[in-house]
Amino acid sequence: MLKIGDIEIKNPVVLAPMAGVCNSAFRLTVKEFGAGLVCAEMVSDKGILFNNEKTLGMLYIDEREKPLSLQIFGGEKETLVEAAKFVDKNTNADIIDINMGCPVPKITKCDAGAKWLLDPSKIYDVVAAIVDAVEKPVTVKMRIGWDENHIYAVENAQAVERAGGKAVAVHGRTRVQMYEGKADWNIIKQVKEAVNIPVIGNGDVQTPQDAKRMLEETGVDGVMIGRAALGNPWMIYRTVRYLETGELIPEPSVREKIEVCILHLDRLIALKNEHIAIKEMRKHAAWYLKGIRGNAKIRNEINECNTREELVTLLMNFVEEVENKQQSNAQAV
Ligand SMILES: Cc1cc2nc3c(=O)[nH]c(=O)nc-3n(C[C@H](O)[C@H](O)[C@H](O)COP(=O)(O)O)c2cc1C
Repeated sequence: MLKIGDIEIKNPVVLAPMAGVCNSAFRLTVKEFGAGLVCAEMVSDKGILFNNEKTLGMLYIDEREKPLSLQIFGGEKETLVEAAKFVDKNTNADIIDINMGCPVPKITKCDAGAKWLLDPSKIYDVVAAIVDAVEKPVTVKMRIGWDENHIYAVENAQAVERAGGKAVAVHGRTRVQMYEGKADWNIIKQVKEAVNIPVIGNGDVQTPQDAKRMLEETGVDGVMIGRAALGNPWMIYRTVRYLETGELIPEPSVREKIEVCILHLDRLIALKNEHIAIKEMRKHAAWYLKGIRGNAKIRNEINECNTREELVTLLMNFVEEVENKQQSNAQAV
């Protein structure tokens, strides 16, 4: 069983942290589809320390999401330690994760995110200071390296372990690769062989079969799923089931997909407000509709919606249209 510090995680399937996506509304929905662990979107250490209202709102966790890992990012030891102390004392997160993978220049130019990957001794120093300052288990999510000439995944993971970190998640790409090219599972395997703390593998798990293959090929303790869960929380359930029983259950019907989309929408409205939720939901709705035949028109129309009523009407009309088409096709056969 995957165990991070004292936190027992009932299966090895982990929802990846995704900025602008992994708020409580989405996490809870994914949790209900069986994720062992859900990760929150990255939160700025300085935002926490400056009491930024929006940042503090990002620390909200529904009890039903637990166990949950809350990720902070920053480029300086002192502010990361203070932010971690705040999360430790003032949130019901189970795990504090440090972002050492974000490739975005706005973040790396402040020495945060993937910039840490260039110096294992700095990683040791910051993780040791955070571990010392908090009670919750501390973990690190990292990429394999900065670029192909600076791949220190093994040294960096060993530094995390020596510093008292309780797990590492490894995305098998370098910072320079951003989200392009293939994730290198071989380096994830090397990390797994080099440390005794749990290792969670990440990158290019698009299907339940990929998850199984990653577990088998690399020996990791958990698989982290990011983009494949966008508008597709049942990917988590299908993966959990596949790993447990070998059974590949079919995708839900279009009606079921849209019902989950509306549940997600309503949770987002409750979390933020209708205006913000509808704007944020446009991208999610497009993800929920991905792969459904004849979705081009509705994907454009969604961007014109301003209220829950408009969006729900549009989605439910689309479901009926699809179902009518399916019925007439079945009759024609
Ligand atoms: C929209 C988006 C936002 C992301 N935000 C974060 C983040 O806040 N923290 C983090 O560590 N990684 C973040 N990532 C990276 C993912 O957690 C993950 O490492 C990456 O997508 C590779 O996994 P995948 O192939 O399963 O998508 C983000 C990725 C995406 C697509």
